[in-house]
Amino acid sequence: MAQNPPVGGRTRRRPQARARCALSLLTAGVLAAAGVVALTGTAQAAGALGDAAAAKGRYFGAAVAANHLGEAAYASTLDAQFGSVTPENEMKWDAVEGSRNSFSFSAADRIVSHAQSKGMKVRGHTLVWHSQLPGWVSPLAATDLRSAMNNHITQVMTHYKGKIHSWDVVNEAFQDGGSGARRSSPFQDKLGNGFIEEAFRTARTVDADAKLCYNDYNTDGQNAKSNAVYEMVKDFKQRGVPIDCVGFQSHFNSNSPVPSDFQANLQRFADLGVDVQITELDIEGSGSAQAANYTKVVNACLAVTRCTGITVWGVTDKYSWRSGGTPLLFDGDYNKKPAYDAVLAALGGSGGGGDDGGEGGDGACTATYTRTSTWNGGYNGQVTVKAGGSGITGWAVPVTVASPQKVSAVWNGTPTTAGDVMTVRHSWNGTLAAGASTTFGFTVQTNGGTSAPVVGACTAS
Ligand code: G3I
Repeated sequence: MAQNPPVGGRTRRRPQARARCALSLLTAGVLAAAGVVALTGTAQAAGALGDAAAAKGRYFGAAVAANHLGEAAYASTLDAQFGSVTPENEMKWDAVEGSRNSFSFSAADRIVSHAQSKGMKVRGHTLVWHSQLPGWVSPLAATDLRSAMNNHITQVMTHYKGKIHSWDVVNEAFQDGGSGARRSSPFQDKLGNGFIEEAFRTARTVDADAKLCYNDYNTDGQNAKSNAVYEMVKDFKQRGVPIDCVGFQSHFNSNSPVPSDFQANLQRFADLGVDVQITELDIEGSGSAQAANYTKVVNACLAVTRCTGITVWGVTDKYSWRSGGTPLLFDGDYNKKPAYDAVLAALGGSGGGGDDGGEGGDGACTATYTRTSTWNGGYNGQVTVKAGGSGITGWAVPVTVASPQKVSAVWNGTPTTAGDVMTVRHSWNGTLAAGASTTFGFTVQTNGGTSAPVVGACTAS
């Protein structure tokens, strides 16, 4: 569940500093009016991947396994970096309905609860797929299979209604190779081509708000398979079959490199009137070559207005389904790889802030931003100001919040506005010995916005 806003003071705050300096919404609106603003002469401060992507109007997520959430480094890396999660296996048919009409959501629920407690979005994966089907499904005759499929969609989507931003309604229904044909599966073989349409129509009746996606692999460039999916989506849009998005899994390696027409392919689908999402990104390799390929993928998404988000298929190489290919952004010890830096840079971040801190400063002092709590409609941010090698007697840090978000309170600092930038200066806490630190905080009303605040560099006085 989402956290509620904290009530009362924060325990680490000095009593005399607790009086919050409420900003008028008019003033805050000025801060927000021009969207995210580059701070002249200061460090751009989107450190975490999710925040950097949010500043571009997109989500950046990771596939997550429930049984790793108890590993501190796994959870802290996930929480610090990502804005969306996809259960890697826990929402699949065999995981939630191993026996007919007997549903077990506990593992998937753990992921959803974790995500919600951290203010992350959740992608649903996947409702109808030929793989990871429990044994009881395949032998069913057509009428029974149709009923089982619709019941499965209905029960699972109802359980997660309101908690999933996008569902992979149907996964991998097309064959590889040059035929452009549908893949043989219990659904295809017994219900015919119409099973996909039926699944989407059922899904829409259950949750009108979740985005309904078709998801597949080897469709990332223009080829016979993606052409076939394209024709299906075009037909769905023409006939009013409810489809909102197409997922491009984007599992790449030397045999299946990032296609040169990746962006063009995303764009042609977007031009049909659907969102596109990169849903299972991983790229085998290492070092600068791997980083360059990640850059290509992120840039392609950013170049397509309707590319709404990217999910990498795991947090760390050690738990990847292709761990031998080291395809992810963090190595087995959770160190950031060159691919991580490349993705962050492509998203416009620089490691100078974001929800996971990072530092920006002139050497005399640094400012490190952390989101300390999140609730429906808002969050609190905290900036740690730290003196460098010499003591300081005052400091100033610029903070910009993107419209429609508004700053509603600031504490342990004195805000003033200049143009679009709220500059927070010390109040009682200006004098810091060498290496000493203090914090200031602020509350943001999100008003439906998702981007992270841009916290600029500290300057000492
Ligand atoms: O949890 C059991 C464990 O109890 C058992 O001892 C072990 C023995 O094999 O299996 C474990 O389950 C494995 C599961 O991953 C969890 O680790 C399954 O065998 C294994 O088949 C399963 O693989 C998953 C694969 O889908 C199944 O098709 C991968 O984790 C998952 O990353 C992968 O994800 C798919 C997407 O859903 C669709 N697109 C392709 C993508 C990669 O294959």
